[in-house]
Amino acid sequence: MPLNVELLESSFAQIKAQELEFTNHFYTNLFADYPEVKPLFANTHMEDQAKKLFQSLVLVVESLRHPDRLAHPLQGLGTRHIQYGVLPEHYPLVGSTLLKALALCLGEAWTPNAEQAWSEAYSVVTELMLSGAVYSTEILSPALQKR
Ligand code: HEM
Repeated sequence: MPLNVELLESSFAQIKAQELEFTNHFYTNLFADYPEVKPLFANTHMEDQAKKLFQSLVLVVESLRHPDRLAHPLQGLGTRHIQYGVLPEHYPLVGSTLLKALALCLGEAWTPNAEQAWSEAYSVVTELMLSGAVYSTEILSPALQKR
C-alpha cells in the first residue's frame, strides 16, 4: 500500500512547529519505557542527538514524493547504527516511542488514519535502515561472505 503522503506532510508541519517538545517527549519516553537502550547513549550529547534525529525525520518527510532518494541515506544510517550497538529488535521500541511522541504533540490531529500513516512510514524507514545494516554485515563478516 502506498504511503499516505498528504497526511504525513500535514501532520509533520504541525510537529515542525514544536521540535523541542517533540524531541523531549521522544527521549524522555524512550528511556522511561525502555531503560535497556539507555546504555547505547552513554557517551552521546543528547541535545545534538535530538537535533540530528529531528533532521533525519525532516529528510524522510521531505523525500516522501521522491522515495528513490531515501534508500541510500537510510541504508547508510542503518549501517552506522550497527556501529552504535543498535540491534534489529531495538527498532520496534523506537517505533512505538515515535508514535507516542507524535500522538502527544498532535493532540486531536492524532487520528486512526494518522497513526496508520506514521506506523507504515516507520516500517518503510526501518526496512531501508536494516537492509543497509544487513549489507554491511555481509561485507564485514567472513562467515557470512562464504554463504
Ligand atoms: C527510524 C529509525 C531511526 C532514525 C531515523 C535514527 C536517526 C539517528 C540519527 C540521525 C543519528 C545521528 C548519527 C548518524 O547520523 O549516524 C542517530 C544516532 C543514534 N541512534 Fe538512531 N535512529 C533510528 C533508530 C534508532 C534505534 C532503533 C536505536 C536504538 C535504541 C537508535 C540509537 C541511536 C544511537 C545509540 C545513536 C548514536 C548516538 C551517538 O552518536 O552517540 N537509533 N540516530
